[in-house]
Amino acid sequence: MPTSLHSPLDMHLHLRDGDMLKRVAPLSAHSFSGALIMPNLVPPIETKEDVQNYKNQILEAIGDEDFIPYMTLFFKPTYSREFLESVRDEITAIKLYPAGITTNSEGGLSGFDVEELRTTLEAMSDLDIPLCIHGETGGFVMDREAEFVPIYEKLATHFPRLKIIMEHITTKESVAALDRFDNLYATITLHHLLITLDDVAGGMLQPHLFCKPIAKRPEDREALLKVALEAHPKVMFGSDSAPHPKEAKECPGCAAGVFTAPIALQTLTELFEKNATPLKNLQKFISENAQDIYRLKPLQKEVILTKEPFVVPDNYEGVVPFSSGTALAYNIHTII
Ligand code: NCD
Ligand code: ZN
Repeated sequence: MPTSLHSPLDMHLHLRDGDMLKRVAPLSAHSFSGALIMPNLVPPIETKEDVQNYKNQILEAIGDEDFIPYMTLFFKPTYSREFLESVRDEITAIKLYPAGITTNSEGGLSGFDVEELRTTLEAMSDLDIPLCIHGETGGFVMDREAEFVPIYEKLATHFPRLKIIMEHITTKESVAALDRFDNLYATITLHHLLITLDDVAGGMLQPHLFCKPIAKRPEDREALLKVALEAHPKVMFGSDSAPHPKEAKECPGCAAGVFTAPIALQTLTELFEKNATPLKNLQKFISENAQDIYRLKPLQKEVILTKEPFVVPDNYEGVVPFSSGTALAYNIHTII
C-alpha cells in the first residue's frame, strides 16, 4: 500500500549559505512543502535586510521546487518593538541560542533575566511572534537540557502570551514540561526518535550521529517516541538537519549536526509503520500540528511513498546523511 503525506513541514532546518546551501536546499525543497529556516549563519541573520537577502538566496538555490522557506531572526535582547513591527511580515519566528552552546551561536544570549528580556518578549507576545529556543545550559552534557527546563518554565510563566517552542527536545523532563504550560510547544527530530548516546559513543565513535543536544538515554527516547507517535498536539517534526562537510565531521573536533533532510520522510514512515501507528498521526506530526501551532497555510504538496528499498547514498556532494549506505524500507515514488 503506498503512503501519501500531505504538505510535509520541517519546523527546524539548517540550510547554511553559499555552496552548501546550493547542495542541500534542493533536497528539502523537493520533498517538503516548507521549513523553518534557522538563522545561525556567520554572521547571524539579525536585520530585515539579512532576512530578505537570505530568503532570496534560498529561493534561488531551490529553483523550480514548490517550497516555502519560513524565515527566522537570531534573537537579540536589544530588538525593539519598532524593529519587530517592521520585520513582522518577513518572519515566522525568532530563534534564541544561549551563547556558545552550539554551532555558530557565539552571539547568543548570556543570561535569562526576565526584566532584561521584558521589552522584547512582550513585543513578541503582542505581535504573535513565536520564540524558538535551543534549551541547554552550560552544565554537564547529559544534564544540560533537563537543567534548562526551569528556564523554560520561568519564561512561560512571565510571558504567558508568548508561544515558546522548545527546540529539538531530547529528554523526558522536556516532554513532561509540555503539559504543564499552555504556551510551551516542542519540535522533535528524527534522529532523537531513533538513537541514544549508546549509538553515538557506546561502540566505535560515530561522528555522523554527534549533535547538540546529544542523544540521551533509552527512557528519554521512549518519552519522545510516545508523544511523536500519538501526535501530541503540542509537538511537531523539526529535523534539525544540520549539514557539515564530511571533513568537518570525520576529524578531531568533529562539528555537531546530523544530516537527515533527504531521508526524513522515508524513515519516519517506516518508524510509524513499525509501531503500528495510524497514518493520520504521522500526518499530524509532520504537518497539521505545525499548521495549528504556527497558524500556517502551507503549499499543497503530496508525497507518495511506496514500500520498496531505498539505498541511502554514501554522501550528497560530500555531506554524509543519516543511514548512509543502508537500505530504507520506503522510497519516495511521486511528488504532486
Ligand atoms: C546545529 C548546526 O550545525 O547548525 N548543530 C546541531 O548539532 N544540531 C545547531 C543546533 O541546532 O544546535
Ligand atoms: Zn538546529
